[in-house]
Amino acid sequence: MRIGIIGAGAMARALGGQWAAAGHDIAIGARDTARARAASTVIGHGTHAVTVAEAAEFGEAVLLALPVSALTEVLETIGEALAGRIVIDCTNAFLPDSGTFVLSEDAVAERIAATVPAAHVVKGFNVCAAEVYAGPAREFEGHTLLVPLCGDNAAAVARVAALVEDMKLKPFHAGGLAQARYLEATSAFVVGQWFGGNDSRAMFPPLEATFADAD
Ligand SMILES: NC(=O)c1ccc[n+]([C@@H]2O[C@H](COP(=O)([O-])OP(=O)(O)OC[C@H]3O[C@@H](n4cnc5c(N)ncnc54)[C@H](OP(=O)(O)O)[C@@H]3O)[C@@H](O)[C@H]2O)c1
Repeated sequence: MRIGIIGAGAMARALGGQWAAAGHDIAIGARDTARARAASTVIGHGTHAVTVAEAAEFGEAVLLALPVSALTEVLETIGEALAGRIVIDCTNAFLPDSGTFVLSEDAVAERIAATVPAAHVVKGFNVCAAEVYAGPAREFEGHTLLVPLCGDNAAAVARVAALVEDMKLKPFHAGGLAQARYLEATSAFVVGQWFGGNDSRAMFPPLEATFADAD
């Protein structure tokens, strides 16, 4: 698949690196061409360094690997080019607050979809740190890492799910885009706890032990 990546930081490199290694054709666009070139060199596999606008026009799928604060400005510039394309939103609207995080806004993926209504927005890859997606471990405690995806367009979600599988991770469709705000809030809570040294993973029993009695 042709994938355009907007932004050249940690998430661009982590996801772009995995997808390029799996054989996808990547164009990475940044506002600073030297940074796009540096990221394309790190990703390798023939990744192209382009402008932000060119990355949007290149991708059948376009990853927004940007801080939430950049979205308004960037979407104003490339919004029209995103029509008909899959837009992957991995952003988190975290603000630090007393050693943990609160959200600076509570529904980023829905805002993106409202701003570019002709695009097919899929929320995902926002729960784990970039180094987890980039790293060699695919299983933890005997379970392949799950990547929840939220989106309204079934074909778009299926194509992003295939990108998750290409990373040797396990996708699951966690609902429509209206569910994305809960995924965003989950990330703020869980990551905030991890930052505080609490093992968020240990909060949950396995599915078979979740309910004592069937309702
Ligand atoms: N890092 C993680 O572990 C992680 C995990 C899950 C989700 N996320 C989310 O993923 C998104 C990207 O995170 P990241 O860690 O990759 O960030 P990052 O390393 O700081 O990279 C952000 C990229 O966005 C670019 N950018 C910033 N403002 C821009 C603007 N106005 N126009 C164009 N480009 C702009 C930066 O360009 P310059 O270099 O020119 O500033 C940089 O290339 C964030 O929303 C974050 O919350 C991050």
